[in-house]
Formats: sequence, structure tokens, C-alpha cells
Amino acid sequence: MDDRLMDTSLLAEDSAVEQTLRPHTLREYVGQQAVKDSLGIYIQAALSRHDALDHMLLYGPPGLGKTTLACIVAAEMGQNIRVTSGPAIERPGDLASILSNLNAGDVLFIDEIHRLSRQVEEVLYPAMEDFAIDIMIGKGPTARSIRVDLPRFTLVGATTRAGNLSAPLRDRFGMLFRLEMYTPEELAQIVSRSAGILGIDADAEGVLEIARRSRGTPRIANRMLKRVRDFAQVRASGHISREVARQALTMLDVDELGLDRVDRNVLGCMMDKFGGGPVGLDTLAATTGEDAVTIEDVYEPYLMQLGFIMRTPRGRVCTPAAWAHMKKEMPASASDGQIRMEF
Ligand SMILES: Nc1ncnc2c1ncn2[C@@H]1O[C@H](COP(=O)(O)OP(=O)(O)O)[C@@H](O)[C@H]1O
Ligand SMILES: [Mg+2]
Repeated sequence: MDDRLMDTSLLAEDSAVEQTLRPHTLREYVGQQAVKDSLGIYIQAALSRHDALDHMLLYGPPGLGKTTLACIVAAEMGQNIRVTSGPAIERPGDLASILSNLNAGDVLFIDEIHRLSRQVEEVLYPAMEDFAIDIMIGKGPTARSIRVDLPRFTLVGATTRAGNLSAPLRDRFGMLFRLEMYTPEELAQIVSRSAGILGIDADAEGVLEIARRSRGTPRIANRMLKRVRDFAQVRASGHISREVARQALTMLDVDELGLDRVDRNVLGCMMDKFGGGPVGLDTLAATTGEDAVTIEDVYEPYLMQLGFIMRTPRGRVCTPAAWAHMKKEMPASASDGQIRMEF
């Protein structure tokens, strides 16, 4: 298991620290202004009606703050949160038992909700819509189903791939929130808050340098902060300045835009082996030796955000900006390919 900086999934190292770095209120939650504005209103309205909040779906790439937001929603509502995930709920009975143990007002958080099986999903439909589940009693010809009422609860689902959610499930969420990548300034706010909590000595320029290279993702920003802290302790008497951050991140193979070895490998492969594309995801995965899901969920969103990769009906294409960043000359045929794709 290689422990790369960009891996936006949760590493064991992070889970304890992530708890301490997680903001606990909507006010402390940096960025995502549009989401916070709407949520603030809905929470206030539900509280004044003494009602549970509508079910909500949070989606966006890993590490952007979905789990954090779910916990904040529960805290702001003054309710408990029950945390589980799509892959953890194997059978319909597992979900039925989780649901029937909820108390009124509870927040049920299902991470990776796109990975629920079809049969489990079917238990969720009446639970979300009517706050009830149908339980089968007995076996064979005498079996019958009875409807059991549930307390009013709020389901918060999180997913990296809203497109993989079945339509009936998606339609049952009253609110859908898409989390966006963070600006360097927002990430700087997050990094400096984390530095404060962890007692790390970093100046504003050092913080901004880390923020700029964390590919729009708070989880990566916090992870980089810790790596740079280690470097600073050994090489620079503990203080993180711009130069120390730059040196530490260069040593970790992270460039000025936050691209790491894998990003550069993906771009390099597209350019050297496919003339910049179009190339299909599976072909790209096979030639780079990376997992297709990882490319799609972890690497591609940021490369697309930078405007380095475009998705076209025939596959992925590198843009002129990507060629320039990789310091490679873009062949004339590559631009032809793009023009054909666009028109
Ligand atoms: N808006 C935010 N403000 C401050 N810190 C954040 C924010 N979003 C995420 N974080 C930090 O990033 C870490 C990862 O966030 P998390 O909610 O686990 O992401 P996700 O569930 O989307 O993968 C959290 O531990 C938290 O410290
Ligand atoms: Mg999460």
C-alpha cells in the first residue's frame, strides 16, 4: 500500500488528526458559501418548526468536507448522528435494524451511498418518503409484510459520484449540494487554523504556498501541512516559511500547481503515447498502471478544474495549457483532434 500525498481517501494516519481538525459549526466551516447559505436557512426553519431537516445529498470529490458537513448539520440541529456507509450495509436487514434504532430527529449519515445494493436501496425508499419500513414476517406461503413506523429522521447521503446514484434514490432527496474545490485563499484559512490547533509555527506565506499546492482539497492541505512540519523540524528549526514549504513539497514531488508524479504520469502518457488524446479512460488506466476509478475520482477532477484535460465523447483530451505545463511541444495533429471534438 503506497502512502501517497494525493491519495484523498482516508489513511489510518489521518483519522485521529482529522477528528481534531474538523470544524464543528457552520461558521467555522470555510468556503462553500452557497451551500452554507442555503443550509443555514433550512436549519433555522426546521428548528423553528421543531421538525427534522429534509434529506440531503452531498456530492463532490473526496476530501472536500462531506463527512465534516454531515456532522455539522447534526450538531447545528442539536441532534445525534449515526454514521455508516454504503459498502458496510450488506443486507436489507442490516439497514432495517439501523433505521429502527433511530431516535426522532437523528441524522443518519450514509457515506458512499452510491454503493448500496439495489435490495438495500429498496428498504430506504419508504423510510425516506413515509418514515416507515416494511418487514416480512414468517416464511413461505404464510409470510406477510407489516409496515413499521419510524421516527422522523434526516438522511444525509454522501457520494463522489452523483451520476451513479439510481434515479429513484436521487429523487427522494429534498436537497442536493455539490461541494466545489476550494480557492487557495480558503485553503490558506484552513491550513492556518490547522496549524494553530496542532501548534505548528507557519507564517502567512508558508501557509499560502501549502494552500496553492493542495489541489483545492482541505484533506490534502492538512496532510501537506504535517509533512512540511516534519521537514521544517529537521531542516529549518521548525518554522514554515514560503521557502521551507517550497523545498518540502518539491522533495515530495509536488509541483507549483499541486500535481504529483501520478498526475504527470497521466498527462505524460496521454501526450507521449496518444498524441494528447482523445483516449478512453480504460486505455489510460491500463497504460499508466493506475486504477480507472482512482483516475476518474481523484486525479481527473483537479486536472479538469485546471483546464488541463477535457472530456469529449471520444475520450480525454489534453489542452494546450497542459502541454505548456508539461513543457512539451503540442503536435499540430493534437490541436486538430480537439477542434474536431468541439465542433
Ligand atoms: N470547509 C472546511 N473547512 C475546514 N476544514 C475542512 C473543510 N472541509 C474539510 N475540512 C478538513 O478536511 C478533512 C477532510 O474532510 P472530510 O469531511 O472528511 O471530506 P470528505 O468526507 O468529503 O471526503 C476534515 O478532517 C477537515 O479537517
Ligand atoms: Mg468522508
